[in-house]
Amino acid sequence: MMIQDSFGRIHDYLRISLTDNCNFRCFYCMPDEHYDFTPAPLLMQADEIIALAKLFVAHGVKKIRLTGGEPLVRKDAAAIISALGQLPVELVMTTNGSRIREMMPVLAEAGIRTINVSLDTLQEEKFLLATRSKVYKRVRENIDLLLDQGIAVKINTVVMKGFNEAEINDFIAWTKLTPVEIRFIEFMPFSDNRWRSDRVFSHQEILGSIGRAYTYRSIEPRLNETARRFEVPGHQGSFAIIGTMTAPFCSTCNRMRLTADGKLKNCLFSTGETDLLQALRAGEDVLPLIESCIRQKKEALGGQLDQHFEQLDAGLLKNRSMITIGG
Ligand code: 5AD
Ligand code: SF4
Repeated sequence: MMIQDSFGRIHDYLRISLTDNCNFRCFYCMPDEHYDFTPAPLLMQADEIIALAKLFVAHGVKKIRLTGGEPLVRKDAAAIISALGQLPVELVMTTNGSRIREMMPVLAEAGIRTINVSLDTLQEEKFLLATRSKVYKRVRENIDLLLDQGIAVKINTVVMKGFNEAEINDFIAWTKLTPVEIRFIEFMPFSDNRWRSDRVFSHQEILGSIGRAYTYRSIEPRLNETARRFEVPGHQGSFAIIGTMTAPFCSTCNRMRLTADGKLKNCLFSTGETDLLQALRAGEDVLPLIESCIRQKKEALGGQLDQHFEQLDAGLLKNRSMITIGG
């Protein structure tokens, strides 16, 4: 019944990328060279997404996260969200926050209770530089709107040395009166994303920065937690660190990723992928493909990043770019 890998890890969390398109152009996410978004016929259609999601849910998936690109730029995002909202599963989403206001009724109706908003800087000019988008104020308003509607907000902040590491305590200051959870993410290498080991600002360095201005204490980890969580006494919000590069959390991993073109990845860093969409369209049985993909899962980091990150040659990694994986 359950989907399990060869290390006994039960996989009950599916991340579905709705599109590799995005209305932002974050420099660490989009490939350097000109990038052509996947033509629509090659993407999973709404009914195909729903059919695959149902299959996963029937085999033990308890949580589905919609990602992108930017999931809300897809024209039929509302229909897909409404349909997935009917399934007996916790539905969450990672978004850049630009299109929350117009989607609010759909999100509420689908029963979405938590949303992750990506936001790497609290400075409008730097936001423009990083994303090439002018909607900083709108994203901030949309975060407030979510909180007003009683939806929990987690902020994904990729920390990059020389870019935003000096802002870490500005994010912590924000949590004093605002009940958001800031998730500081170590900068990870993907195909063509300008990753360099000297741009990684580590878990320890992040904690060190915060410790110079605040006292904090750790929060008990939840099951399958990828982030180490902390709180600053007296603050309404909290913070967490996702230390993929220096403190990976693979031993309790329960996640699978379905790309917008219908390929299953057993790890963010997996070299291989399994084409579920082609099988579905050919009328083949998809479940054995899912099971065999997950059985091939490596113990940690796709078997690719086992050396210390400072020795890592990002050019040798075999993977997609982040925008085509979906976070
Ligand atoms: N390293 C760490 N996080 C990344 N994200 C995108 N690219 C990277 C990277 N190279 C984050 C985005 C988004 C989430 C889906 O993944 O900021 O919040
Ligand atoms: Fe778009 Fe998110 Fe990638 Fe930025 S990081 S380009 S917002 S998908």
